[in-house]
This record gives sequence, structure tokens and C-alpha cells, in this order.
Amino acid sequence: MAEIGLRNLTKVYGQDVTAVDSIDLDVRDGEFMVLLGPSGCGKSTTLRMIAGLETVTEGEITIDGDVVNEVDPAERDLAVVFQNYALYPHMSVAGNLSFGLKLRKLSREEIDRRIATTAEMLGIGDLLKRRPRQLSGGQQQRVALGRALVRDPVAFLFDEPLSNLDAKLRAAMRTELIKLHRMLGKTIVHVTHDQVEAMTMGERICIMRDGKIVQVGPPLEVYRNPVDTFVAGFLASPPMNLLDARFGGATGLESVELPSVSLPLLAAHKEALRGHAGEAITLGIRPEDLDAEPSAARHAAMTVSVVAVESLGPEVILVAALPGGQEISARLDRDFVARAGSELQLHVDLERLHFFDTAAGRAVTAA
Ligand SMILES: Nc1ncnc2c1ncn2[C@@H]1O[C@H](COP(=O)(O)OP(=O)(O)O)[C@@H](O)[C@H]1O
Ligand SMILES: [Mg+2]
Repeated sequence: MAEIGLRNLTKVYGQDVTAVDSIDLDVRDGEFMVLLGPSGCGKSTTLRMIAGLETVTEGEITIDGDVVNEVDPAERDLAVVFQNYALYPHMSVAGNLSFGLKLRKLSREEIDRRIATTAEMLGIGDLLKRRPRQLSGGQQQRVALGRALVRDPVAFLFDEPLSNLDAKLRAAMRTELIKLHRMLGKTIVHVTHDQVEAMTMGERICIMRDGKIVQVGPPLEVYRNPVDTFVAGFLASPPMNLLDARFGGATGLESVELPSVSLPLLAAHKEALRGHAGEAITLGIRPEDLDAEPSAARHAAMTVSVVAVESLGPEVILVAALPGGQEISARLDRDFVARAGSELQLHVDLERLHFFDTAAGRAVTAA
């Protein structure tokens, strides 16, 4: 088993590049944890510190409760798969798979047995004699994964292993990794900047920004209750619409007001928003919570003018302008049609409104 703990973990490169800034995280035994964030936010550095490939500036890394800061990478018994696969170019696939096992002085029979099982599991049995350059990107990716699997480590660390694959293969490998995890039941820490990967693969997602952890939780929980505008704008595509608005009406908390648009607040919202009467607010609306028809039970209409209609096949993304000029995206039915410049009504599901304070961008409705 392998629980991985990060306590106040910090990495400073040189004098002043704080790549990882005092993060705390507990990865449970057998959990599929995804570290998600934009390029440069400190994901790889975090993973490399866990692997022992990078020294720790401050804080602790524990594996099953033991501090491993000073433990050799090999002795941590973790297997890393990198984006560029890092295969040995002069060795065959079989050689790549067996290399680490030979170093560990496993018997010939045990090595053969492990290679056979892994090759079977990944469907690379007929590639064992080839060199890496004789393989497609997807096949190299499988071999890199195979090299991690044969080691039978206590946990896997994946650093964007799917990023170099084309979209179709990436989707297929996502599914395979999920199956593999279910079968092996081992702890996986998977780094990605791809929110679709994170949403589909992670049992929990840890969202990072500027070396810090912003939010940790199951994908749907993070999607439903983003703690701030950064998370709201990062998950899902197109992301949540974030609009400058203000609470208004007789009590200052009857409605949320945009230029020429007034959306009534539901009783539950008023309760949660007490203390914010009359304040400026960032209103969050997911594109999928907007509709061209009044379909939600409690909805309100906004008149918008059409900027663009983008058909993706299964759905249509409408980009429209609100009366004050702010743009808003809506995910609509695939049959939706409209002319650019025309006006229409968009219906918003009032139960799904999000509110963030304008200054810090923090969610002001605790769910
Ligand atoms: N070896 C290094 N020396 C100096 N700065 C580095 C080094 N590696 C990474 N960084 C910096 O640390 C920050 C985090 O990098 P990284 O962990 O690679 O981010 P991510 O994997 O999320 O894209 C970035 O600002 C990056 O430029
Ligand atoms: Mg990286």
C-alpha cells in the first residue's frame, strides 16, 4: 500500500523561483489523484520531489507515514512515466522492460513472467523485439507504461504521459489507464494540464496555481462548487461565464443586476448571500446552464445579440453579447440556428447561478 503525504512542501529553484509553495496534500492508498493546472504552476516539480528526482527546499514527503525526503529514488519504490517516455533508444522493447528488473537482480523466470503478463495487459506482445524508433508514439507510450508496470511499484507517478498522443489515441488511453487502475488498485498521482483528462480520470482533482493548491476534491464536486474564479474558469470548455454584476432591488438582495438584465435571486441564494446586499459581484453562469428554451423549472430570460454560432456536431456553442457588451457563451442543442447580429432570448437556470466576490474572486456561496 502507499499513502503519499505532502506537508508544507516547498521548492525554490535558485534564489527566488518558488515553483512549489508550501502545499499540503494527502493521497489515499489506491487513489487516482490528478494534479491539474496551467503550465508552470508546479505540477512536475511536485511529482519530481515525490519521486526523489528533485530535492525538497522545505517541508516533508511521507510514504505510508514515513518521511522519505532523504530516501533514494530507487528505494521509494515508485514508478514514473514521463511525457517524452524516456525509453532507452538502443534497447529493444523487451530490453527496456527488463532493464530495471535486471538491476534489481530478479531471476530470469520472474523477469520473463512479468514481461509476458505486462505485454499481454498492454497489447505489446508482438513489439518486444523492436527498438523504440520503430514504434509509433502510441506504442512508445505503452512501452513506457509497461516499464513502470513490470516493476510492480507501490505507486505510479505520471507526468503528462498522454500529452504527445493525438486526440483519438489520448481518449482511448484515458480509458485504458482507468481500467488499469481499477485492476491494479494502486495509488496513482497523474499530472496534467488537460481538464478533460482530470475530470474523466481523477477520483480526486488537486488544482494548482502559481505553486499553490487552490482546491482538492472529486471532479464533480469541484465542477459544481469551484472555490474561486480561477477554478471556475479552468474546468470545462467553454468555461463558466464570469460577468460583472451587482445585487439590487428593494432590499439590495432581491436580484442580481447586469445592464438591462435583472435576474431574481432564489430564497436559498438570499439566505447564503446575506451580508452582500447592494454589493458588486462576479456572477458565474455555466454555458450548459443557459438554454434557448425555458427548460429549467426556475429560470429567467435575458435578451442577447448573437455574435457567433459554432456548431460542433453534437452541440452548438453560441457566443452572444449582453446589452452592456459583456460576452456570454451558451451550450445549446445541436439543432440551434441563429444569424449573427440577431437578437434572441437566453434562459438561465436560476438554481445554478454562482457568485464570487469581485476583489479576490472567492466563491461567496458556501454549498
Ligand atoms: N530546474 C529548474 N530550474 C529553475 N526553475 C525551474 C526548474 N524547473 C522548473 N522551474 C520553474 O518552476 C516553475 C514550475 O515548473 P513546473 O513544475 O515544471 O511546472 P508545470 O509542470 O506545472 O508546468 C516554473 O516557473 C518553472 O519555470
Ligand atoms: Mg510539467
